[in-house]
Amino acid sequence: MLATTLPNCILRPWQKNDVASLVSHANNHKVWRNLTDNFPHPYTQANAQFWVQYASQPIGKSLHLAIVVDGQAVGGIGVDGQAGIYQKTGLFGYWLGERYWGQGIATSAARALVLHLAQINWFVRLEANVFAWNPASMRVLQKAGFRQVGCQRQSVFKDNALTDSVLFEYLFGEITA
Ligand SMILES: CC(C)(COP(=O)(O)OP(=O)(O)OC[C@H]1O[C@@H](n2cnc3c(N)ncnc32)[C@H](O)[C@@H]1OP(=O)(O)O)[C@@H](O)C(=O)NCCC(=O)NCCS
Repeated sequence: MLATTLPNCILRPWQKNDVASLVSHANNHKVWRNLTDNFPHPYTQANAQFWVQYASQPIGKSLHLAIVVDGQAVGGIGVDGQAGIYQKTGLFGYWLGERYWGQGIATSAARALVLHLAQINWFVRLEANVFAWNPASMRVLQKAGFRQVGCQRQSVFKDNALTDSVLFEYLFGEITA
């Protein structure tokens, strides 16, 4: 997937000149509190420089793309392959700058990445974990064809609070709505 133009955004590889935009959208407590601790906070220029370098040279079966709106990288979406017995499952994730929430952008991006992953056939299954306090993300996954398959109660400690982790999966062999 070199670049895909969707009605409300473009998905394309991260570029060195995305650093300033990445910092300005990623350095947000409301974004960070819905992601794993691999996503830094505060999100510094050094973090952004590391990310654009890392994401543009993926190792193995992983793909990380910038979500671009009005020419600016305002979010990210991607998948990480796993090792060993879980190698056929891809871990799916995304985030979007708060200014752009509520416009269907994450849904478009998620649908497009799922479609692309179906074409390249890396995985038989995708998985995403959503914190229980994040219904918007659950809705994004549902609209992209994922279904909820479990809930790991009180498994997450984030932002000084305990919450459940809700597990969603997408099976490429299944016909989804
Ligand atoms: C989750 C996130 C990516 C959603 O992005 P977005 O572009 O605003 O999402 P969309 O507009 O495509 O869809 C959001 C859906 O959630 C719904 N929604 C929003 N807030 C909601 C709420 N409090 N309760 C229920 N549904 C809600 C919207 O109505 C919409 O559904 P609809 O189209 O059926 O009306 C964005 O909020 C974000 O980046 N959050 C921080 C990081 C994050 O949570 N990443 C995902 C980790 S699993």
